[in-house]
Amino acid sequence: MPFEIIIGTQWGDEGKGRVVDLLSEEAVVVARYNGGDNAGHTVTVGGQTFKLHLLPSGMIHSQTIGVIGNGLVVNPAVLLKEIDMLRQNGLTVDPQRLGISHAAHLLTPAHQALDRAQEAARGGAQIGTTGRGIGPAYTDKVARRGLRMEDMLDVPRFRHKLTAHLEETNRWLTQMYSAEPLAVQAIVEEFSGYAEVLAPYIRDVGALIMEVLQKGGRVLAEGAQGTLLDLDHGTYPFVTSSTPTAPGALTGLGLGVLPVDRVVGVTKAFQTRVGSGPFPTEVFGEMAERLRGTGANPWDEFGTTTGRPRRVGWLDGVLLRYAMRLNGVSELAVTKLDILSGLPDIKICTAYRSENGVHETLPLGPADLSPFEAVYEELPGWQEDVRGARRWEDLPRLAQEYIRRIEAISGVPVRYISVGPERSQVIVR
Ligand code: IMP
Repeated sequence: MPFEIIIGTQWGDEGKGRVVDLLSEEAVVVARYNGGDNAGHTVTVGGQTFKLHLLPSGMIHSQTIGVIGNGLVVNPAVLLKEIDMLRQNGLTVDPQRLGISHAAHLLTPAHQALDRAQEAARGGAQIGTTGRGIGPAYTDKVARRGLRMEDMLDVPRFRHKLTAHLEETNRWLTQMYSAEPLAVQAIVEEFSGYAEVLAPYIRDVGALIMEVLQKGGRVLAEGAQGTLLDLDHGTYPFVTSSTPTAPGALTGLGLGVLPVDRVVGVTKAFQTRVGSGPFPTEVFGEMAERLRGTGANPWDEFGTTTGRPRRVGWLDGVLLRYAMRLNGVSELAVTKLDILSGLPDIKICTAYRSENGVHETLPLGPADLSPFEAVYEELPGWQEDVRGARRWEDLPRLAQEYIRRIEAISGVPVRYISVGPERSQVIVR
């Protein structure tokens, strides 16, 4: 079955959007399976930059059907704005072209207010969340008191449930966090309006996907965030609250264990992170500014969702190997190779050192990386501009050697290399 999964191997922001854009040319369905509008996928087409938070990036191709899986938490205000944005750009978005899982959870202003209040209460131990309400929305899901998309189909009952949810949150906000209460009635009216508009899109998306797969149609599952932000397997507690790793595509779309054609892991040619948490190969000062950019370009290392400057560092081979195993990655896409052009030498972390010796793999996962120090290998940098390269042979020898080193460390082939933000600036091997 032509089912493919695209995941980030790092802390998100690997450039998955553009790899999805490339691979969705042949897809019938493009599906998001985790997260919410904490994600920010940037795709540049013909000088025009699309920033998508909730809709699958592959919807920029007009032949695709977009799916929002049950693994998501959906802020309907953001979703409707995005639907409008695509329409303004000449794309059709109607119930034939977009399906939203009946079992996806709703993200409300209550979740956003709680996210802000809880972060403020954490003081110095802040996670550095995107403030979009993601953690509290998944908390309600797990606590079995969340509102799901299917609740919107019965508006009187929905209004009742939503009112109870907002009133309960108000008690938390005022009594526990000394925060302002929410305007319950206004939110109920606003959401009743969303229910009317979104009802025709709500369906069993797992059944839709199976039907397409059985007819031989290609389905592309797009992970948001990255492996190291996975709730179970990431740098806990500095993680998001969903399952960005590849197995999440099955549970997050309502599918059984089915054959997966390939799992494409997207990795930046270096490493970035937003928010708090461990980062063994982080760099500071001039080198950090060099890798991050100034913020003048849309591809500089500033958060798509929050605008925060990203922390930057060298590629971490230990964490990359870990991501290969967790996702079952079959091939890699390396993005932003062009950013490394002109550096005298490039470091790559191949192992960690602790007082117990040298480790090529993590003894216990990445939650506590404090005992480790990165062991680097230094490779000579290339001085040529690679932005015009379209074939493997166009790359300077030293850039090819860097890619080959990534293949040796990860144990999988590098199939795609991006050398610039434009759709065409990619090498397919
Ligand atoms: P939350 O998902 O808003 O709860 O944030 C939890 C952590 O995940 C924070 O460190 C965020 O910066 C990070 N995070 C969430 N979404 C993304 C993303 O799409 N890219 C990069 N980091 C993210």
